[in-house]
Amino acid sequence: MTEGSQGVEVTRKDFLFGVGLTGVSFVTGGLVGFGFGDSRSGDGGSPPQQATPGSGPQPSGKVTNPYPASLVPATAETTKQLTLEATEKTVDIAAGVRYNAWTFGDSVPGPVVHMRQGDTLDFTFKNTSSQGHSIDFHSAQTPWNVNYVTIVPGKSLSFRWKANFPGVFMYHCGTPFVLHHIANGMYGAVVVDSDPPLEPAREYVIVQSEFYATAGENGSWDADEEKMKAARPDLMAFNGAAFQYRDNPLPAAVGEKIRLYVMNAGPTLFSAFHVIGAIFDRVLVDGNPRNPLYGISTYTVAPGQGCTFDLTVPDAGQYPFVTHSFAYTELGAVGLLDVK
Ligand code: CU
Ligand code: CU
Repeated sequence: MTEGSQGVEVTRKDFLFGVGLTGVSFVTGGLVGFGFGDSRSGDGGSPPQQATPGSGPQPSGKVTNPYPASLVPATAETTKQLTLEATEKTVDIAAGVRYNAWTFGDSVPGPVVHMRQGDTLDFTFKNTSSQGHSIDFHSAQTPWNVNYVTIVPGKSLSFRWKANFPGVFMYHCGTPFVLHHIANGMYGAVVVDSDPPLEPAREYVIVQSEFYATAGENGSWDADEEKMKAARPDLMAFNGAAFQYRDNPLPAAVGEKIRLYVMNAGPTLFSAFHVIGAIFDRVLVDGNPRNPLYGISTYTVAPGQGCTFDLTVPDAGQYPFVTHSFAYTELGAVGLLDVK
């Protein structure tokens, strides 16, 4: 991806936006600017591009309906009810890029499950799609051969588990080929608050993932198993859509405690999670307060792992959050904290 400014009409607003971020990318070593060139080629509302065989999807314009990143507080009851439905749904994985996904609850990622340490989840999995799927909660202790089995279309499965460990966890479909089921969108995050809870903060949940696409019908995109096996993604996303928090920055305030619950759904690539212009006061490995690290600039979040990142920002400005693996950053794993 290049700056892409040649031959493209640049509006004053886009020009200023681009200049500001070119400055940021200069600080990081003169990299090409996180696909910010893309935002100059449209102003949102572009029609979906035609998928052509042999090519990969190219975002066009800006994401206008971002996945809500704010963590909703956990409810008070100690036994929580949750039903997740496996569905087939065409979703936006970047501006102007429609993808035929398999989902939990019609969105990619699926809904954030927020509990408190010691809570019990009374869980039902329903498969209303056309093929077998399953559930696997990394936050649970429960037998794989009983509760993580594949459920055929039209059937359901119920079981309970207790949140014994606090942290940030993945849930996903574990039906073979797991690579395909995760890459196609079947994942989400569980956040379990510790007892006692962490100090209050402005809290966001960020799920990193990869998309591997081949041209499908009607201009939408399907899974590309060869690209998955080669770990050659077309797009990388935070919360299911490439560049969505570049286009819709996450607000924060100078001096306030910001907490990012980062979960890497993969299916294959590691995240080198970093906020440009900031240092993490504290990283909680797996989101557990008994695993604190202090003064961290970049921290690895493995596929299937979650971590909690606390930071405070002394000066107003824009702070990009990225995976510092820059071949992948440029595919869409970049967003902005807008600190006022
Ligand atoms: Cu599945
Ligand atoms: Cu797993």
